[in-house]
Amino acid sequence: MENRLKIDFKQILDHSHINNPYPLYEQFRKTPVAQQEDGSYLVSTYNEIVALLHDPRVSSDMRKSDAQKRVMQQAAQKRAEAIAQGLPVPEQEEVVPPFIFQDPPNHDRLRRIVMSQFTPERIGRVGEHIKQIVKEHLDKHAQGGQIDIVDDLAYPLPVTVICQLLGVPREDEAHFHSWSEILASVLDPGQAQTDAQLTQIMNANKQIHEYMQQLLQKLKVHPGDNLLSGLLAARDDEGAMSSQELIATAILLLIAGHETTVNLITNGTLAMLRSPQLLAHLRQKPELIVPYVEELLRYDPPVHFRNRTALADITIAGTTIPQGATIILVLASGNHDEKRFEQPEECLIDRQGNEHLGFGSGIHYCVGAPLARIEAQIALGEISRRLIKPELAIDPPPYRDNAALRGPRHLLVNFQGLS
Ligand code: HEM
Repeated sequence: MENRLKIDFKQILDHSHINNPYPLYEQFRKTPVAQQEDGSYLVSTYNEIVALLHDPRVSSDMRKSDAQKRVMQQAAQKRAEAIAQGLPVPEQEEVVPPFIFQDPPNHDRLRRIVMSQFTPERIGRVGEHIKQIVKEHLDKHAQGGQIDIVDDLAYPLPVTVICQLLGVPREDEAHFHSWSEILASVLDPGQAQTDAQLTQIMNANKQIHEYMQQLLQKLKVHPGDNLLSGLLAARDDEGAMSSQELIATAILLLIAGHETTVNLITNGTLAMLRSPQLLAHLRQKPELIVPYVEELLRYDPPVHFRNRTALADITIAGTTIPQGATIILVLASGNHDEKRFEQPEECLIDRQGNEHLGFGSGIHYCVGAPLARIEAQIALGEISRRLIKPELAIDPPPYRDNAALRGPRHLLVNFQGLS
């Protein structure tokens, strides 16, 4: 088949690519819409990605894909066989996916309720604490030496912020830290899922559900000035969100707050330490941090791809994607499309018309974008301003084992103190 991709998408997990996947994406873009060996379609060019993100024939509900239907049929068959053999079979619960994996009208109803609680005032109030949290983390390293930007700042900051915003006690974080990481791995289409991994995912899912159920029960009795208490009240007022939907929404917000902003702050530190000119620029003109964060969301974004399912045969760029097929939209490749962005491989703070896909586009556009922007602007602003003579200790740094939510696992920086 002419449009079949010669390069297997799974190569992206090779360590040579996870350090720098952009040359591979350049190869992908030679075939804007390409069928892969497993029958899924890879879309790598800007206009095609945007068109599909806005196309109502394209679904975010994985249950509608042929691949997922096959998995569910196999599971049902195994279950039926076990029952026939008189083996013990666990009760099956109805799974309610979070609204990021749902289509209208359900998606729109749930998103509207969330947005009603994601108010600028609430974000503004949390925002006031961000500077203080960054200061506290950096001040621990006043004597200089070595800092791990990930463990010492970029991870704890968004976690503290999302916990505060939602009303999750910060001390509980130790419990859901690893559940969150395991569940985020589900987004990576390159990960082969062995039985052991599937069991791990199911366990993490069960535990985070139980945790959230208990927390919501507590908040119902003792509401606080936080987003989850707001959601509980809004849902009762409007009667428009079931308990299972509320739990799924709360977990989605918690995981989104854990696994994304960390990468933006870390990628931003990496890019500025690789370019002395960029760092000098940011120090001279601190207000440039705002366009810098925008350019980062294009140049080295935290979210590299999102999956969709075709609900009808869709012809795009001369290729027909058949109904039921999985579509992988490589947002980070769209961000580097030479037909849309001049000098796409350069990080240019003064770039004009930077409509990047870092937060997606269309009805699923990131709910947390204003929060993520403030966190990254403050953290990167303080890192650029305060670290004296910062230098990367290891370059390239080791990356997390997740090609969809991509970022360094550690970023060690040597420096001579704080200003
Ligand atoms: C959706 C990126 C931070 C909550 C998305 C999408 C992207 C994205 C690309 C679109 C998904 C799709 O089209 O399928 C990012 C990045 C972040 C970030 C790069 C940090 C730098 C956050 C934070 C939160 C959040 C902090 C929560 C507080 C969500 C939610 C959705 C979403 C709930 C689903 C929206 C919907 O389906 O309508 N995000 N995100 N994100 N994001 Fe974020």
